[in-house]
Amino acid sequence: MDPQRPSLTAEGAAALRVWHTLLDDPPHVFDDSIIRSMLSGPTRLMLHAPPSMLRRAIRARETVQPELAALRGQVVLRSRFAEDALDAALAGGCEQVVVLAAGLDTTAQRRPELARAIMEVDHPATQAWKRERLPADLSAAVRFVAVDFERDTLDTRLTEAGLRSDAPMFVNWLGCTYYLEPAAVTATFEALGRIAARGSEIVLDHWLPEPGLNWRPRLLLAGVRFAVALQQEPLRCLMTAEDLAERAAKGGWQVAEKLDAKAQRERWLAGRSDTLALPDFAHLTRLVRA
Ligand SMILES: C[S@@+](CC[C@H](N)C(=O)[O-])C[C@H]1O[C@@H](n2cnc3c(N)ncnc32)[C@H](O)[C@@H]1O
Repeated sequence: MDPQRPSLTAEGAAALRVWHTLLDDPPHVFDDSIIRSMLSGPTRLMLHAPPSMLRRAIRARETVQPELAALRGQVVLRSRFAEDALDAALAGGCEQVVVLAAGLDTTAQRRPELARAIMEVDHPATQAWKRERLPADLSAAVRFVAVDFERDTLDTRLTEAGLRSDAPMFVNWLGCTYYLEPAAVTATFEALGRIAARGSEIVLDHWLPEPGLNWRPRLLLAGVRFAVALQQEPLRCLMTAEDLAERAAKGGWQVAEKLDAKAQRERWLAGRSDTLALPDFAHLTRLVRA
């Protein structure tokens, strides 16, 4: 990504989470409407509940072209997955939360009681831009660690920021692996592995490579590839589940849970009355440090 400019895909993902609450039916898979105040003016302008005729038209279009709703679906489903895993980790006594490639993640806003346990890691430009938008009390409570995964040593930076390697950490790493060089993905698993106590976890999403996908998700992926390249955040690392498991194992991480698109649809989309969808290439994984 352009090192001088905040990530555009971070704001795009945040806008899709808001759009889910405006267009899709309750119950919402993940309610992130609190994020609205952090979005830039032009993005906020686009986020108004559509009048009923427009809503019907969008839904009719999404019924025949489900991929139009699929990016919105993958953004909210990955957040739901991470939130449920976070709750389970906290219930198990975990007291350290690391949000990697945080973008406009709102864990600290939605759950201010956790703010002091949270370390947000992001590219320096994106992080500075986010911090300008945060209320001062939250900005002071959360620990911010500016890191470029392609260049910096993540474990050193987290340790300097106070991360304890004698206690488990919960790591949320969403919406990022596909934008990194494959070597940086492996290096991130290795860096986290060097400082992770037993019982630590990473939740992340990854996208499958084109071979093996049918034409609809392939077409969507081609469109996304084009759009994010224009935003100077090109797709660089598409991984099969096996490829991901091998890279994670280099850092000592084992797959504890993996959800392909079918499993996610069964868990979160079955029985919904709206058009929310998910692309076949979107997979979710939870890793543990044994
Ligand atoms: C699509 S956003 C995802 C944000 C958030 N996790 C979410 O789920 O909405 C991608 C994030 O990856 C971060 N990112 C991309 N390349 C990076 C790099 N080389 N080093 C650090 N962060 C990076 C961007 O700054 C941005 O916050």
